[in-house]
Amino acid sequence: MAHFTSDYAQLYDWLYSDKAYDAEVDLIHRTISELKPGSKTVLDYGCGTGNHIKDFLARGYHVHGVDVNNEMLNVARSKYANNPAVRFLHVSERQTIPPNSVDVCVCLFDVLSYMNKNEEIADFLDYARMVLVNDGLLFFDFWYGPAVLYLRPEQRWKEFQKGEQRALRLTSPEHDVHNCVVRITYKVTVFEGMKVINMFEEVHSMRYFFLPEINQYLSQAGFRLRKFGSWRGLAGPTVNDWSALAVAQSMLM
Ligand SMILES: C[S@@+](CC[C@H](N)C(=O)[O-])C[C@H]1O[C@@H](n2cnc3c(N)ncnc32)[C@H](O)[C@@H]1O
Repeated sequence: MAHFTSDYAQLYDWLYSDKAYDAEVDLIHRTISELKPGSKTVLDYGCGTGNHIKDFLARGYHVHGVDVNNEMLNVARSKYANNPAVRFLHVSERQTIPPNSVDVCVCLFDVLSYMNKNEEIADFLDYARMVLVNDGLLFFDFWYGPAVLYLRPEQRWKEFQKGEQRALRLTSPEHDVHNCVVRITYKVTVFEGMKVINMFEEVHSMRYFFLPEINQYLSQAGFRLRKFGSWRGLAGPTVNDWSALAVAQSMLM
């Protein structure tokens, strides 16, 4: 079953309207100022509907948004039409971004965890290394293995209200411990008043990672880990941080 179908893409910004995109970009911007001041170009890999991009543009960056999903890209394009500081590309067009032309690559909100296969991760990191300048920065967050095993995935309901409309999302996990993957079934029902106006479900297969394998992937692709933490800060994640945040820097090739 596909993920981020048209139904999900249309509701995406509503379902994640409480995500602190501005605070995330703020942490990234402060880290860029420390590790690679003067950076001007950002590649948002797995940009989705482009929610981080607004805050990168506000800080003066030029942005490439790349995603594998056209439904998500269409929503993003509609939000930034006619803005010359941003352009969106499907992954099949990513080679149009010249080598050594990007200062910072970000891959945010679990995009790495959607890459379940080792080859997909290696392909992404090799590509990121190729487009980044020497000493370029790579920011990525991902499901953090120690937290997933400590906290355990569980079934949850979440309710969303917008004017007359209300959405209910049921999240049901199926944990494949041996492959470090959690298959999540999202069942979404949208109501207008008492009437159901949409109902759909999709499965998202999320892989979690541990620090030693992250270090291995990074060094194989020509990166070294500079900082490791969570969205709370870059002083190391705890077993309560479902998402870990890594900052890597590309090494001279
Ligand atoms: C949870 S969304 C995050 C979107 C956006 N980064 C945000 O923070 O709102 C995950 C995104 O990753 C994209 N994605 C998943 N696998 C990908 C891949 N192999 N290459 C590029 N994009 C991918 C999906 O299409 C989706 O838009």
